[in-house]
Amino acid sequence: MRRAGRAAAEILFEVAPHVTPGVTTDRLDEVVHEATIARGGYPSPLNYRSYPKSVCTSVNEVICHGIPDSRPLVDGDIVNVDVTIYLDGVHGDSSVTFPVGEIDPNDRRLIEQTYVAMNEGISAVVPDRPVNSIGRAIERHARRHGLGVVREFIGHGIGTEFHSGLQIPHYHDPRARTIMETGMTFTVEPMLTLGDPACALWDDDWTAVTLDGCRTAQFEHTILVVDDGVELLTVLDDGTVPAEALVVEASA
Ligand code: MF3
Ligand code: CO
Ligand code: CO
Repeated sequence: MRRAGRAAAEILFEVAPHVTPGVTTDRLDEVVHEATIARGGYPSPLNYRSYPKSVCTSVNEVICHGIPDSRPLVDGDIVNVDVTIYLDGVHGDSSVTFPVGEIDPNDRRLIEQTYVAMNEGISAVVPDRPVNSIGRAIERHARRHGLGVVREFIGHGIGTEFHSGLQIPHYHDPRARTIMETGMTFTVEPMLTLGDPACALWDDDWTAVTLDGCRTAQFEHTILVVDDGVELLTVLDDGTVPAEALVVEASA
């Protein structure tokens, strides 16, 4: 799991310089596909429940599962690139929301506070606590900043399966009573919105968008529960966190 997580982080580093005005998300798909194969891995999204591409690219009002296409990104867009690699029998899953060129200060705030919200959720990972502590922390942070939290898509157990049965809501769900135990691996991947978090699905059956068209951001780590808390798996060998090196201030 450490190797798969590290590979996902490395792929985010490889794709990052390509995220510029004028690039198509199809091109980002190509870069992620090649980088995944080059590491001896398989891009987990490709043909997963008939998903057609090797990465998810979610632009502006797209909450998640955006399918790469031929539209060039333009200055002022924000795009989440969600990379999952299947390597040596297990999956590593991580995403970053990138600014494209110069972005609106309010979009910058959305990106930064979504990153902080993810970290607040990860900080709530402690053995013997229920998983609903994670969503409670995320929701509290979002509320303080006047941001919405998407409820329809949640974090998930991950390992030999891309999505195991374990569910990690990003809002406070008292029913999510599964107790965190040392050795568990799952993702924390909140999606926050500038407006109403209600969502709609395009008729491609994948692309999830905000109903009101407001912008939305997401970050994702795959994590391991350890005795004294949490270990981030989707980081570089030296512990570098892609989001912090590429998008947000480490202090964010
Ligand atoms: N990587 C996404 C997640 O975080 C799942 C994408 S499923 C796909 O769970 F089929 F759209 F790729
Ligand atoms: Co995930
Ligand atoms: Co993902």
